[in-house]
Amino acid sequence: MRILVIGGAGYIGSHVARAFLDRGAEVTVFDNLSTGVRENLFPEARFEEGDILDYGRLEAVMKGGYDALVHLAAFKAAGESMEKPEKYSVNNISGTLNILNAACAAGVRRIVFSSSAAVYGEPEYVPLDEGHPTNPENYYGFTKLEIERFLGWYDKLKGIRFAALRYFNAAGYDEAGRVRGLERNPANLIPVIMEVAVGRRAELKVFGTDYPTPDGTGVRDYVHVSDLAEAHVAGLEYIGKHDRSLTVNLGSEEGLSVLEILEAARKITGKPIPAAMTARRPGDPAKLVASSARARELLGWTARRSDAATLVRTTWEAYTRD
Ligand code: UD1
Repeated sequence: MRILVIGGAGYIGSHVARAFLDRGAEVTVFDNLSTGVRENLFPEARFEEGDILDYGRLEAVMKGGYDALVHLAAFKAAGESMEKPEKYSVNNISGTLNILNAACAAGVRRIVFSSSAAVYGEPEYVPLDEGHPTNPENYYGFTKLEIERFLGWYDKLKGIRFAALRYFNAAGYDEAGRVRGLERNPANLIPVIMEVAVGRRAELKVFGTDYPTPDGTGVRDYVHVSDLAEAHVAGLEYIGKHDRSLTVNLGSEEGLSVLEILEAARKITGKPIPAAMTARRPGDPAKLVASSARARELLGWTARRSDAATLVRTTWEAYTRD
């Protein structure tokens, strides 16, 4: 099986490339290295440097002949997307349309797409299932939802079969230490805590202590990136076997607060990790927890390594590797 992983030098993309390689697939990574890093490229995978805004380049690479592609090439900072929507329009939306059109031209009919829980917006109820209304609170989430809708049309009109995977909070690193690259300028909670622990930042700012949650801080569903990666393999198998597209949540179904993650990090790293209690970050809901019942039923998938200790330990190992 030949798989093209677009955005495969990034944090999630590299774990996805790893999961397909581990199952014996032939993997090509396509990445412009704008946020992805060379350390994340595996010697067993081919690498094609290129940009999804370069339609000609995409089409030329895809004509190499692939059974499927995985699309993870997107900007993902929800806060930034509210200040620079143009950047998200061009890359996330126009870039995806290039991918879809090139896939049609090259006859690649199966697509695994990295979507997000951000498509739901402020929850009306938790746990969130796939039937929850989609009403994104930020422009990033809007781009993911629009892409899901394009995929729906390309399914009907062009016979593309897709798996849209709505990730909750991706975290952790490959347990065997095979993913070597760290994200530059991370904004997500666990990498920020790690940067404090290694002395790269002075303190963690806890965004909001007055949420209606048990300890007042935000609760999220953190899911290990290798669990996510395995769902890409399972999602692709599903659409191939059933010739039917699929949209599923991927979460651990467990909520962890900012303070619970911080405590786990202090314990595992043995570092004090100073923290300042600050105001809420605009647009942050109190609590986001997935129902992953559909992924369990249709894909036989569950999160197996998404407990706080494994998430923090594997990230700490990545941050302290020489
Ligand atoms: C957001 C998006 C999510 C997206 C992800 C990718 C929304 C609602 N969520 O997740 O869909 O896939 O970004 O990056 O748009 N926190 C702190 N201090 C920090 C950083 C975070 O207290 O320095 C808190 C946040 O308030 C939140 C939790 O930690 O309660 C997790 O935050 P973060 O890792 O940034 O992810 P989300 O905002 O949940």
